[in-house]
Amino acid sequence: QSMDKGIPWAVVMILLSDVCAGENILPPGPLSGAVGGRVKFTTSLSRPESPFLSVSWSFKSVNIITSTSTNITEPGHTNRISLDRATGSLELRNLVPEDSGEYTLTIIPDGGLQRIGRITLNVATIRSPAAVLIENQSSTSLTCEASGSISTREWIKDGRFLHLSDSVSLSMDNRTVFIRPVHSSSHGTYQCRVSNPVSSLTAVLHLTVNYGPYNTSIIGPSAASPGQKVTLQCTAVSIPPANFSWAFNGTDTHVNTSVFVIEKLEYKSIGNYTCTARNMVTKKENSAVLDLRGKMVIIWTCGINSPPEVSGEQDRSHV
Ligand SMILES: *[C@@H]1O[C@H](CO)[C@@H](O)[C@H](O)[C@H]1NC(C)=O
Ligand SMILES: *[C@@H]1O[C@H](CO)[C@@H](O)[C@H](O)[C@H]1NC(C)=O
Ligand SMILES: *[C@@H]1O[C@H](CO)[C@@H](O)[C@H](O)[C@H]1NC(C)=O
Ligand SMILES: *[C@@H]1O[C@H](CO)[C@@H](O)[C@H](O)[C@H]1NC(C)=O
Ligand SMILES: *[C@@H]1O[C@H](CO)[C@@H](O)[C@H](O)[C@H]1NC(C)=O
Ligand SMILES: *[C@@H]1O[C@H](CO)[C@@H](O)[C@H](O)[C@H]1NC(C)=O
Ligand SMILES: *[C@@H]1O[C@H](CO)[C@@H](O)[C@H](O)[C@H]1NC(C)=O
Ligand SMILES: *[C@@H]1O[C@H](CO)[C@@H](O)[C@H](O)[C@H]1NC(C)=O
Repeated sequence: QSMDKGIPWAVVMILLSDVCAGENILPPGPLSGAVGGRVKFTTSLSRPESPFLSVSWSFKSVNIITSTSTNITEPGHTNRISLDRATGSLELRNLVPEDSGEYTLTIIPDGGLQRIGRITLNVATIRSPAAVLIENQSSTSLTCEASGSISTREWIKDGRFLHLSDSVSLSMDNRTVFIRPVHSSSHGTYQCRVSNPVSSLTAVLHLTVNYGPYNTSIIGPSAASPGQKVTLQCTAVSIPPANFSWAFNGTDTHVNTSVFVIEKLEYKSIGNYTCTARNMVTKKENSAVLDLRGKMVIIWTCGINSPPEVSGEQDRSHV
């Protein structure tokens, strides 16, 4: 119709591009998210009277979702996104570092001009070389990666500010933590908090350091009565959890669980129980011994006129 009235094409095109450039329907951004987290791109549009003909989001020139009378979702984003068809807002979940970049929203309303919005997402992450770490033997580094303007980076270990030491140091810009070598105390959760004057976000990494076993011990009675059921529990501090084996008087019992059960204590079950904890990664082992003795119950039988003077149990070493 416009053409019929003689308005030249060039004028129409300038008007269109002015409208698109002048009014972004998304906030200026960039938005920040952490790996594994979620982020929502909320448009400034209110629910229209008649639904948009088409809502589509693209990222790195791939359509991640196009919603017309049907929805077409890019396979890599199924189960990770939720679209609010009425306003065009998009939620993105289980963020990965590769989600960083510019997202474009294109909306075709039912009447009126096409609307376009753009927003940039920065996903922060802590990277660490993939390697099996063994205490006192391996070294590693953690690098905090985040784009955008960053004024400070802070490191937190297990909820407290990272403690620097001979083996834990920071790069000049705080981007990288060097741990040379790793210790058992290096095991745990690291957070990198990056901030600029308007926002901050935190990336998380769980660092596994294999160590131990240490402090192997047997929990159980030191003495028990004949016929009694006796349960011995072996514990050790170890990453990964230790494997256990039990020996009796120096002979392997073929029991390899953390618990050793003597159903009924007999004369022949009295002696030394040794639990050996083994760490399959560090290849170290550590043992504990429990010297299980027999307990004799002495019951004093008394005359009618003389009440018992002593009643109870008495330990004795089995000979
Ligand atoms: C498309 O997705 C939107 C948002 O999840 C939903 O509201 C709508 O019902 C879907 N339409 C079809 C045809 O599946
Ligand atoms: C590792 O080093 C710590 C102290 O530096 C020491 O206590 C520990 O026994 C060492 N562990 C091993 C398996 O060498
Ligand atoms: C570096 O980290 C320290 C704390 O370890 C902090 O005081 C300092 O502000 C940080 N500097 C930058 C530039 O992030
Ligand atoms: C072992 O036990 C001692 C004493 O209870 C304790 O100080 C130490 O921290 C323990 N070691 C480990 C690795 O848990
Ligand atoms: C050690 O224990 C783990 C589970 O705690 C088990 O998966 C593994 O097979 C055990 N290894 C051996 C050699 O017994
Ligand atoms: C039992 O252990 C004790 C120390 O715990 C040791 O003196 C004794 O020789 C051990 N006996 C046997 C038969 O292993
Ligand atoms: C324990 O020993 C049994 C046989 O003695 C074996 O089949 C099993 O894999 C062992 N399990 C562990 C955890 O070592
Ligand atoms: C185990 O060793 C103890 C000494 O520590 C001994 O008295 C006992 O007879 C031994 N038992 C067996 C079954 O060898």
